Amino acid sequence: MSLSPGFLDELRTRVTLSQIVGRKVTWDMRKSNMAKGDWWAPCPFHQEKSASFHVDDRKGFYYCFGCHAKGDVLTFVKESDNLGFMEAVEVLAREAGMQMPARDPQAAVKADRRTQLAEVMEEAVKWFRLQLKTSAAADARAYLEKRRLSPAAQERWEIGFAPDQRQGLFHALTQKGIAANLIVDAGVCAKPDDGGPPYDRFRGRIIFPIRDGRGKAISLGGRSMDPNARAKYLNGPETDLFDKGRSLFNQAPAREAAGKGLPLIVAEGYMDVIALSEAGFRAAVAPLGTAVTEDQLRLLWKIADEPIIALDGDTAGIRAALRVIDLALPLLEAGKALRFAILPGGMDPDDLIKAQGAAAMQRVLDEAQPMVSLLWRRETEGKVFDSPERKAALDKKLRATLSKIADPSIRSHYGEDIKALRLKLFGREAQPFKEWKPRNPSRTQGRFAPRFDPLRDNLPPTASTKASLLGLGEDALSEVLREKVILATLVNRPEMIAQFESQLDRTDFVGPGHARLRDLLLTHPDAPDLRALAAEHLPGVVDALMAEPHVRNAPGMTDPDREKAEFAVAQDLFLLQAERGRRREIEEAAQDIEGVVDEGLTWRLRKANEARAEAQRGPQDKSGESVIAPNGVALDKDEIAAARRVFDSIRFEKGGKNG
Ligand code: UTP
Ligand code: MN
Repeated sequence: MSLSPGFLDELRTRVTLSQIVGRKVTWDMRKSNMAKGDWWAPCPFHQEKSASFHVDDRKGFYYCFGCHAKGDVLTFVKESDNLGFMEAVEVLAREAGMQMPARDPQAAVKADRRTQLAEVMEEAVKWFRLQLKTSAAADARAYLEKRRLSPAAQERWEIGFAPDQRQGLFHALTQKGIAANLIVDAGVCAKPDDGGPPYDRFRGRIIFPIRDGRGKAISLGGRSMDPNARAKYLNGPETDLFDKGRSLFNQAPAREAAGKGLPLIVAEGYMDVIALSEAGFRAAVAPLGTAVTEDQLRLLWKIADEPIIALDGDTAGIRAALRVIDLALPLLEAGKALRFAILPGGMDPDDLIKAQGAAAMQRVLDEAQPMVSLLWRRETEGKVFDSPERKAALDKKLRATLSKIADPSIRSHYGEDIKALRLKLFGREAQPFKEWKPRNPSRTQGRFAPRFDPLRDNLPPTASTKASLLGLGEDALSEVLREKVILATLVNRPEMIAQFESQLDRTDFVGPGHARLRDLLLTHPDAPDLRALAAEHLPGVVDALMAEPHVRNAPGMTDPDREKAEFAVAQDLFLLQAERGRRREIEEAAQDIEGVVDEGLTWRLRKANEARAEAQRGPQDKSGESVIAPNGVALDKDEIAAARRVFDSIRFEKGGKNG
């Protein structure tokens, strides 16, 4: 279905952004100006106490000065409910009382058919659930109790029971006037080869309804209670509704939970998802009786950037992980990854949670390994590399594996990590190597690294950072000036520190005492007199900033308007990161000489240069363009988008000063 641009415009004018946003936030009424359609609230997309989230009803845009979330009403619904674009359009269209445009006739027929099948499925779910209450279901209820599924959980998961009858469901559905062929096409009954009447596919089983991403029932899973049953689990067949390889059990609830920041966990089976979810890990899904497919991986990455695959620690589990890795390597793109949580002693998540509780599961998740470690283990574990031939064979294998990664930048980062592991294994101590570490600890760990705290660590500022500046060129010196402007502005207006917290944390400050000062700002944003605190613990550092005429005249220092000062700091941080990212790429380029690493180099350099050029050029509508991430650290798509918006505002409000 395609939407005319007019439709979306109409939709945007019919709904009021602040009304939609208002359901998810509590407005800061002191800061907001209702009459102007100007609203402020603590941001719904990141944790904060202050109100850095700004909604402008006139422009129909929101922007968070803290995490740089931004967009229009559609983006908001998409992001806050973790929906796809068309789903967000549908939700808002319903809200606005607008009819979605008609679909083409062929698609409409197909959709109607699917609607009918889904209705049959819904009736089947209802009937199975009723059966669980009957006297014939005593064993089933006992079984569920044995598996510690509380009545409330049974309700939530809509658990049902298929009695051991040949045509129980079939008769119940035909009595409701449903045509036999629909019942068969929905997959709940099957036609025998001998042409006899359809019979129930699920008999004597516990029933788990399977719903799609929008909550529509699309199939069923049935677990036998008889340990000797031919198949422990039976899933519905592929139908017009149910495409196994594109479906995930618990998809819609998991997507919502993942949208709220819970880790997306991929388990093997129904009971694992239920146990995880009931234990609070609500973003849990499972493939349905098949190995994870490429489509499912894409689906997972739509829900979360870094799904965690939970695996049995036995060889079958590891083998399954390696299959997933082979599937994932060609699909990797910036920001999309997988982690693997390996469960102890042949347990599945259900077993582990029952035996040791949610905390034990959490520990396993915390220890989840990145793909590169598993790859490395696959090639090296239990093997001895005591000859040049064996080492060469390993190298060949590793090269072959890396060559499957399509994205050159990711390939080169994998190359670096593997190179480090390899050097470590072969014990060439004479050669320096980089240990594997997350590229961006502040983002992956969510919390700040330990910082210099003047009240705790009474260290004098060192001269070494200053000395190292001597080796830097012109570029670096202008970056130091930019650091000065940022730090001076924040010392001057500590109330702004909170919203730049994460950006400050991930920016390297190289000027004399600058990193220390940044740490001090981050650790003591609420100090009654920050300048005095800094003067006491970092003597001379702030004075040196203020001595710079360029700093004293910076817009962030002189403009009484807080918003303008925020724009200025946002812009300076952004430019600093962009310039630094580019310089770092060049430095790395000079160092990388081994084949596997420099493959992606030209590409990375080009991207880094583009990022900088773009930063200096200012805004340009290229939304949807791929991420430009110098060094994989400094900038992500949202940051670039945020910075563009900052430029926009500055250019338009100040008459092209920075344009
Ligand atoms: P497992 O055999 O590991 O079972 O199958 P489980 O999930 O631990 O189930 P419980 O705890 O014994 O009830 C994992 C998944 O593989 C699929 C099902 O989706 C199951 O949840 N499976 C398994 C089948 O489709 N058919 C089978 O016969 C067995
Ligand atoms: Mn199990």
